[in-house]
Amino acid sequence: MRERKMAWTAMPATLRRLVEERLGAPVTRHQRAYGGYGPSVSLRLQAENGARVFVKGAGPESNEVNWRTIPYEQALYESGALAGIAPAYRGSVTHTGWHLLLLEDLGQGGRVPPWTPERARAVMSDIARFHATVKPPPVVLPLPPDVGGNWTRVASDPVTRSAFMALFAPGTGAAAWLDGTLPALRAAEDDFWSAGRLSPEVAGRSVFLHADIRSDNLRVRDGRLILFDWAAAAIGPAIFDPVFFLPSLVAESALDPEPLLAHYRAALQSHGIAIDERAIDAAAALTAGYFAAAAGLPVPPLLPRLRMVQKAQLGPALRFATGRLGLPFPELL
Ligand SMILES: Nc1ncnc2c1ncn2[C@@H]1O[C@H](COP(=O)(O)OP(=O)(O)O)[C@@H](O)[C@H]1O
Ligand SMILES: [Mg+2]
Repeated sequence: MRERKMAWTAMPATLRRLVEERLGAPVTRHQRAYGGYGPSVSLRLQAENGARVFVKGAGPESNEVNWRTIPYEQALYESGALAGIAPAYRGSVTHTGWHLLLLEDLGQGGRVPPWTPERARAVMSDIARFHATVKPPPVVLPLPPDVGGNWTRVASDPVTRSAFMALFAPGTGAAAWLDGTLPALRAAEDDFWSAGRLSPEVAGRSVFLHADIRSDNLRVRDGRLILFDWAAAAIGPAIFDPVFFLPSLVAESALDPEPLLAHYRAALQSHGIAIDERAIDAAAALTAGYFAAAAGLPVPPLLPRLRMVQKAQLGPALRFATGRLGLPFPELL
């Protein structure tokens, strides 16, 4: 099961001509790029003159999220702030019903998984370097508050609660586990926002976050991290990025998250930014809540693999959060 992705040959001739004008020659090779979980246009193109480009955008089969975030990503690329950590920006093309960004084609090199400890450490130290050194451009939005509050939603909304409970085998005591742990999970999650407002010693200062770090949004090329898909980029507590990323890494590898987090903290500390244990607990609870409130919901029509990947991250996220908070861990289905 894969996402619907618009093929180059299915695009209007006028649009293709506009892209070919940028490339300076007709396109001779084209390939849809899979990896993300949504219905954005994503294509790798090569022209007769050898020029290559990656095209990301919104078209007639895209959803409201794509249409909202493509201009945002464009503004971030145009701000220049992403230079050095992202693919090079090569402009945009618009046509009735289409909005395309042209990016450096990173090819297939540096894809993960497979993860190695070296690659994982490179990602952690480069996230820290990004956080410590890249000034947020004025266009960046704050991290939306609805990233949090999910354990409260599990507690108060019966639909969210039963979708979460459906991820556990019947008779395993999941409901009793949830009732017993919810107060601690909610308290820790609430701390995220208060920690974010507190001093830099507690939360790591508010930084420019990618806010959607996962293997399908990055490459590790020559030991350096390249991040793309900046649709969720935001200003928020530094700890969000590594803690949100680690469950996907654990789901894809046998790596232990705590030493990797220590590696990130040490790298950030070398730039003079400290992160308190309490902020890590808060981000861990927030991240686990995010997946707990989403993974069991119905599959959205244009995102057939979304719940699958959220479920894969829920286990490691919950294990990490409950481990840190000293709570029991329930076995998921
Ligand atoms: N600059 C690039 N060069 C090569 N491949 C890319 C590039 N950007 C993204 N991709 C590939 O295309 C996929 C989708 O792109 P992405 O920007 O993550 O959009 P979305 O997740 O919204 O579909 C990625 O998972 C990756 O495999
Ligand atoms: Mg993506």
